[in-house]
Amino acid sequence: MRIAVLNGPNLNLLGTREPELYGHESLDDIERSLRSVAARVGAVLEFAQHNGEGELIDAIHGLRGRIDGVVINAGAYTHTSIAIRDALTAIDVPFIEVHLTNVYAREPERRQSMLAPAAVGVICGLGAYGYELALRGLTRTIAVRG
Ligand code: DQA
Repeated sequence: MRIAVLNGPNLNLLGTREPELYGHESLDDIERSLRSVAARVGAVLEFAQHNGEGELIDAIHGLRGRIDGVVINAGAYTHTSIAIRDALTAIDVPFIEVHLTNVYAREPERRQSMLAPAAVGVICGLGAYGYELALRGLTRTIAVRG
């Protein structure tokens, strides 16, 4: 099973970016621990981060026909980008939306997700552990769906 883990704008700065909010783990740390979880659940990971909306959309298009599911933290684009949801819907694979922070406990503009209506599920507020839960939940969902 092939799973893509996509990260959006500013998440390349994890570890140094507002650590009181986003934690001390870098994106490389998250990738490392996800790869070991992936090996345990029999998944192969593709991991990418892009700051631009168009770059993210191109990356999603590039997954078409090659992967079984997507874990995505689209950062601030989550709250604005119908285009990213359309791209995810277009490649027709299940995806889980992840946020490190509890977006519902923050500013009102973060309480809306353009992606969630098309997602299998949403995990937020559990820090980097949320990526692991998303990966486990997604692989299980795909296995059950057959
Ligand atoms: C985030 C939440 C978003 O609102 C924010 O713009 C981010 C990170 C999170 O992981 O908590 O960049 O997606």
